[in-house]
Amino acid sequence: MLRDEAYRVLAGNWREGSLADGTTYGFTCPAPPRYRHQWYWDSCFHAIVWRHFEPARAREELRTLLRGGRLDGFIPHTIFWHDNAGWRRAPFYATHSLRGNRGTAHIQTPLLALAWELVASRSSDDPGFRTEALDALRLHYDWLGRHRDPDGDGLISIIHPDESGLDDSPKYDAVFGWMSHYLPGYFWLVERSRRLRYDSRAIIARYDEHIEDVMVNVFYALSLRALARLTGDDAYRVRAERTEEALVELCWDEERGLFWDLAGSGHMPLRVSTWSSLAPLALPSIPEEIARRLIEEHLLHPRRYRAPYGIPSVSMEEPSFQAGWHLFRCWRGPSWINTVWLLAPALARFGYETEAERIVGSCVKLVERHGFREYYNPLSGEGLAARRFGWSTLLVDLLGGGDGAAAAPGEPFVGSLRDELRSISAEVAGETLGRLNRRAQAAAKRLRPG
Ligand code: GLC
Repeated sequence: MLRDEAYRVLAGNWREGSLADGTTYGFTCPAPPRYRHQWYWDSCFHAIVWRHFEPARAREELRTLLRGGRLDGFIPHTIFWHDNAGWRRAPFYATHSLRGNRGTAHIQTPLLALAWELVASRSSDDPGFRTEALDALRLHYDWLGRHRDPDGDGLISIIHPDESGLDDSPKYDAVFGWMSHYLPGYFWLVERSRRLRYDSRAIIARYDEHIEDVMVNVFYALSLRALARLTGDDAYRVRAERTEEALVELCWDEERGLFWDLAGSGHMPLRVSTWSSLAPLALPSIPEEIARRLIEEHLLHPRRYRAPYGIPSVSMEEPSFQAGWHLFRCWRGPSWINTVWLLAPALARFGYETEAERIVGSCVKLVERHGFREYYNPLSGEGLAARRFGWSTLLVDLLGGGDGAAAAPGEPFVGSLRDELRSISAEVAGETLGRLNRRAQAAAKRLRPG
């Protein structure tokens, strides 16, 4: 059931075609009509799930992502294949100019090599896939090392908050302030990057708003390891280890038992507990005592991350934690499935299988009740934001994938602005009702005698 529904979501969101110059594309958009383009990390997650249904589409999704990149190894955060960035969203995109761009000029959490290896493992029908793009993959990770690690400490930097994919996470508030992703100042952030032609080294040298983000570097290290296995080139394993060591040496806070992102050239730790602080749990080299502290003091702590549904994106103890939906702001509390995808297997690896199963089981309930939504309220389990959201199907991968074809899809879901407005209104109404209800309950409690 869940598997069939996942297939329907991915197949319904699939877009393919060719451009005027003959370039072909095939990818899954995250959730039309809101997210109509190809997003880097979404595509990696989609491909990881597609490999269980139709490995050929998984391969095409990753090949398309590479095709959207430049010859020097840069791959955009978002690629506009079939559809230009619409008037409503174009100004929010970090492009070189307002019109005429094929993709953005900034990056997103780079897990392509990891996804490539996972897809290759299900590609017995096309064994050449594993090695067909090694040069391009090398170029990509070499570009990241060269352009995003100017201080050479092994940790790559992001220059815009949404480059991690954790757009509005409260951990970025102190750094980006009025230029945060959800505030009008974000336009200025984009504009000043445009003025420096998105030359990341120049931007990092000139402005101090850049971050060595823990979660980004965890995926980077996992991908460097995958690339080492794909190419047989040990240099990438050495690079991965260097990143992992830097995470422990520079980001680990022994006192708090968490990893912090480092901001600016002064490496200021951003002490807000978000799921990113727990992400190093997924590293193969994580020292056991650190892993146990992350798990016992945080991930399974009832006041921090042990919520009824999924894993909250922000510790419930943080003042910025918000369980529900917020117009224009995400990653400030709700549970996302990709978080569980990264952390639940790590939890099981350290012997907490029952807890890992509990978390995955809670996600099954979420999807059964509300479908594949963009994210969910970790306390009430309510489904929030976009519907038919692609990477929430990662739950299928977490459940072992299963084999063979799933039920045939219905008509592809294209959607319209009207549908989108309707869905946003439903979200707003739901949230407002919930809030009123909670207030009424609190008032009733106060009035109750005794
Ligand atoms: C939101 C998410 C981001 C994702 C994008 C497309 O902006 O924060 O991580 O890539 O949607 O799904």
